[in-house]
Amino acid sequence: MNASVDKDTCIGCGACPSICPEVFKMEDDGLATAYVTPVPSEVEASAQEAAEGCPVDAIHVE
Ligand code: F3S
Repeated sequence: MNASVDKDTCIGCGACPSICPEVFKMEDDGLATAYVTPVPSEVEASAQEAAEGCPVDAIHVE
């Protein structure tokens, strides 16, 4: 599974690193990034949960 954050869409709500800190983190620009991709299999479920929990659908997993 690959994960990415669309920086043009992210509003910096901070939910994704809170749900899945193994894959997502906030950067100095106040927006999230997927810093571990491909996503390790043991955290795929939580990465998916983070994607579904993003209020603006800025996270793409495939
Ligand atoms: Fe941004 Fe969505 Fe994460 S708004 S901080 S990508 S939950």
